Amino acid sequence: MTTNHRDNNLDLSDQNKKAWDSLYASTEDFVWGFQPIGFIDIFIPYIKPRLSNVSCILDAGAGEGRNLPQLLALSDHIVACDASGNALGKIPTAIRASLKIVTCDLEAIPFDDGFFDVILLADVVETLPDPQPVLRELHRLLKPGGLLLCNIPGFEDGIAEIDMETIGENQYLYQGRYFYRFVHQDEAIALLESCGFKMVHHQLCSWVEAAHPSFRSDVHTHSSYVFLVEKAG
Ligand SMILES: C[S@@+](CC[C@H](N)C(=O)[O-])C[C@H]1O[C@@H](n2cnc3c(N)ncnc32)[C@H](O)[C@@H]1O
Repeated sequence: MTTNHRDNNLDLSDQNKKAWDSLYASTEDFVWGFQPIGFIDIFIPYIKPRLSNVSCILDAGAGEGRNLPQLLALSDHIVACDASGNALGKIPTAIRASLKIVTCDLEAIPFDDGFFDVILLADVVETLPDPQPVLRELHRLLKPGGLLLCNIPGFEDGIAEIDMETIGENQYLYQGRYFYRFVHQDEAIALLESCGFKMVHHQLCSWVEAAHPSFRSDVHTHSSYVFLVEKAG
């Protein structure tokens, strides 16, 4: 990647993080609601057999924490991180004491190499102007044999290109503010492999989400490639 391209991505990433942080501050409602993202339950049977009672799980880009109850059912050692302090501030009081909460950029998460057994990256890759450094950082944080569960939407997604202006190849700004990308399945697999991951299981998942206060006014259906990948041991 050229220096200019990286600089442009850094500007875009900075604007994008500010846009998300302002969104969370703009409403007392939970933007993403309380229902966990629609693919976690499908993948839990693949993850659970790999866990022990000391397994550490990271919710990377946790937002307001809608997926944390699912993770807390798997382990007592859960970390939630996000760049948005306003998002993390909304994680419900009832579960805060059971978590470690860290405000940070996903490119630099303050934990040692190999700290985590499992990482969830839900609805985040498509919002990253430069996903590779983030995926490499998550690879660093995993133990050998550790698992990353993430979705990477393609153009099948019900929200793809809706109210979005094109700013580059497969790259968009939603409502002129929020960065999105949609990629084909083979590109998503190549991206994960280029960051050192090996495929465990993947499938196209679809689920319906309610409107998101201050963000999306209609009920909508997501279709997204979901990948469970591991750090080769
Ligand atoms: C669409 S939301 C998904 C939130 C959550 N995973 C969920 O499923 O509800 C994307 C999240 O990624 C966070 N994010 C985006 N870029 C980030 C970055 N570079 N570092 C840390 N967090 C980031 C945003 O603040 C936002 O909370």
